[in-house]
Amino acid sequence: MAHELLTPVESLQSRDLLGIKDISKQEALALLELAARLKEGTRAGAERLHWDNLRILAMIFEKPSLRTRFTFETAMVQLGGHAVYLSPAEIGLGKRESVADIARNLERWCHVVMGRVFAHESLVDLAQWGDKPVINALCDEEHPCQALADFLALRESKGHLEGLKMAYIGDGNNVAHSLMLLAGHTGVNITVACPVGYEPSAKYVEIARTFAEASGSNVEIVNDPYAAVEGADAVYTDVWASMGQEAETAKREQDFKGFQVNSALMSAAKPDAVAMHCLPAHRGSEITDDVMDSAQSIVFDQAENRLHAQKAVIAALVGGF
Ligand code: CP
Ligand code: NVA
Repeated sequence: MAHELLTPVESLQSRDLLGIKDISKQEALALLELAARLKEGTRAGAERLHWDNLRILAMIFEKPSLRTRFTFETAMVQLGGHAVYLSPAEIGLGKRESVADIARNLERWCHVVMGRVFAHESLVDLAQWGDKPVINALCDEEHPCQALADFLALRESKGHLEGLKMAYIGDGNNVAHSLMLLAGHTGVNITVACPVGYEPSAKYVEIARTFAEASGSNVEIVNDPYAAVEGADAVYTDVWASMGQEAETAKREQDFKGFQVNSALMSAAKPDAVAMHCLPAHRGSEITDDVMDSAQSIVFDQAENRLHAQKAVIAALVGGF
């Protein structure tokens, strides 16, 4: 018998989760609810849920990871399945073998695939060539599982989401894109502050604004971090140089000066504002120790929630319970 906590999100069954941009407001809210229930269940002792049949997850990594690998693998154990880790060196996505051929192998062995890749297009190809659901575990465009975990943590901290204000300070990157989109779906107002030239992609700003309009919230892009944090309930930051941009680190350290989340910036937000970071953090660059380690910081709640958010995503896409 499958576990009663694994209530399905019917419309997501057998679909891919390539980005928050591809799911509706109802689906986003349903995933957050399912994640919250699964977290509660885990805490109440339901450590192992059970699918009727064993399910296998293939995990493709083109980049390193602590949180994503650990939480996807653990999510499968807790759901009563198994995960197989494929390292960047051994799989050689598109180098040792084409993405299409990899997809057509994996579909014969597993029930769901997750990919942490450089190009979003690789995920699109995996989804197109294989017949199993594909989950984006970070690419150049989005980090949807991170955003789900983050909004769960924010809701736990504030008791609700609608009407809150999040300020995202730093690079208009994959994480910023998913946060803007999920803010739109959850009715959170988001202001993104970036140095000139590092703003989020216009395509993602437009989609996020469409989502936000339907929820009655707004998405603003500015170049002044102090203006962004005014009235903010949450101040979020991420690394200035993402994985794959290491060669730009020195230039970015210069370009992002003034965009550090430190105690001076935090004190310009609401007094009870939380500090957020997807991790790994470069302490002393985009965020200071005193903010990371303060009572306002919820960064490790975000990390904890990756596990539950991903259990919800896997259960919703795979179904079978
Ligand atoms: N936040 C996040 O995705 O962490 P990892 O890179 O360690 O997986
Ligand atoms: N923007 C970062 C997030 C890491 C979890 C990166 O892509 O490296």
